[in-house]
Amino acid sequence: MRTLVVTEKSAEAALRRIEAQRNLIDAAEIRLDYAETDTIGDFFSLPSRISLPLIATARLPRDGGLWERDEEERFLLLCRAAESGFSFVDLEADRDSGAFARLKRAFGSGFGAERGIIASFHWFSQDLGDAGAGRMEQEILHLLAPGIIPKAAVMLSGSRDLLAFCRAACRLKGVKGRKILVGMGSYGVPVRLAYRNIGSFLTYCSDQGEAPAPGQLSAGVLESDYGLGGYHREARLFGIIGNPVLHSSSPRIHNPGYRRLGLNALYLPFPCDDLQAFLETARLLGIQGFSVTVPFKEKIIPLLDEYDDTVRRIGSCNTVYHSGGGFSGINTDMEGFLDPLRHRYDLDSLGLADRVLLIGAGGAARSVAAAISTLPCEIYIANRSVGRAEQLVRDLLPEQGRAIPLNSAADYAPYRIIIQSTSVGMSPDSGSTPLPDFPFSGEEFVYDIIYTPEKSVLLQTAEAAGARILSGAPMLRRQAELQFECFTSCEYPADPGQTGSF
Ligand code: ATR
Repeated sequence: MRTLVVTEKSAEAALRRIEAQRNLIDAAEIRLDYAETDTIGDFFSLPSRISLPLIATARLPRDGGLWERDEEERFLLLCRAAESGFSFVDLEADRDSGAFARLKRAFGSGFGAERGIIASFHWFSQDLGDAGAGRMEQEILHLLAPGIIPKAAVMLSGSRDLLAFCRAACRLKGVKGRKILVGMGSYGVPVRLAYRNIGSFLTYCSDQGEAPAPGQLSAGVLESDYGLGGYHREARLFGIIGNPVLHSSSPRIHNPGYRRLGLNALYLPFPCDDLQAFLETARLLGIQGFSVTVPFKEKIIPLLDEYDDTVRRIGSCNTVYHSGGGFSGINTDMEGFLDPLRHRYDLDSLGLADRVLLIGAGGAARSVAAAISTLPCEIYIANRSVGRAEQLVRDLLPEQGRAIPLNSAADYAPYRIIIQSTSVGMSPDSGSTPLPDFPFSGEEFVYDIIYTPEKSVLLQTAEAAGARILSGAPMLRRQAELQFECFTSCEYPADPGQTGSF
């Protein structure tokens, strides 16, 4: 169940919030600690006015809540919520058994599988590890009982914590009874999304505004980027590792593709600070393929079971898939770069006397260099540090490559094609360009692999001089489509759109 956390002061505002998100959620949690004292009683009419399961809770400051008033008053409010038709009431797991018995009585005869108590604990400490995850598991086993849903919300501070959390969750999956498992913080995002795969009864989501808990995504994003409305059973898992990675647009390419084809699959962002730990998590959760982005495209290679010649030649791997018990690496950046260029430019028209300029000599430049290595023309590699450009020439363009300093690129003009592969000009540094004052003739074809902003300063300047331009957006899309095909053995759909069954 996608559960909207509602932190409104009045019942009317809460009602409006829920109605506005009605198509995106399956349940709502009413946070009574946010309610205004004078009108808090109005909240008890909500179950008769909304046809959704409602959870009532009033969190204490130690659990990230606002309730500072009398403890008995809080407990009576929760009992009243149970009496008024709320489906679940969330109470701290460390309350004594007498409190649980009183709350159970408040539910009356309705107490059972569909109405009951969520017994929760929140751990915000920074080092969960295997020991903490083990304690979490024991606590949940201890709390499990008819009508009681144990809930653990624990902060995950790195890839090792995520691994420990997933190990405990997988062991708990074998134990009968509903549980709620929440990984807080950015490392918990993938398990908030793939909540059914880790055996959690529900996942929490926020409204558009600031999330009431770290790592919580909005109901809108759960639907638009992940299609969780159709996530009714365990899905095949895919994802992307990087650091940072939560901003990545790849989920918005892969997930609509799955939905369009009716595949029960989910593509998740995995922030990563430890590749070994991530690979163990991938094995544990049965992740069948993942994209690799900065800063792991080189570091992942020695950890793979096998990789192809392109990865070996470029020294960069952006795609890993599971095959025959191991992880195999390929590189779709090269073809992703070349495909849009081929569509827009007649590469066969290039001759020996023509010049191509490649700006940059980093990881991205290596994929570009490999892609253009078969062109018959002269290729100038302009980089801030010339030594790196010289290395790239030795490795990938020994015949036709020539390394030059970035600030002397204009000396070797004119170029037929200019390719920009550095991060200079990328948001948030979108005001800069690696070629200030370059004398464009207007005859060039300028390809900037940056896709945010869509038109970099370099492209704007080139276009103003009459040159044809191409941004990195089609490259991003093409390399992702090729990954999709590698992961699913299905061609990427021509019109993925935003809807369709899971
Ligand atoms: P990526 O994998 O994204 O290519 P990288 O391997 O770190 O990242 O390479 C970054 C590229 O951008 C390099 O060509 C780098 O130039 P140096 O090799 O001289 O460092 C280039 N780059 C980054 N910041 C730059 C800047 N401010 N001016 C010019 N070039 C820059």
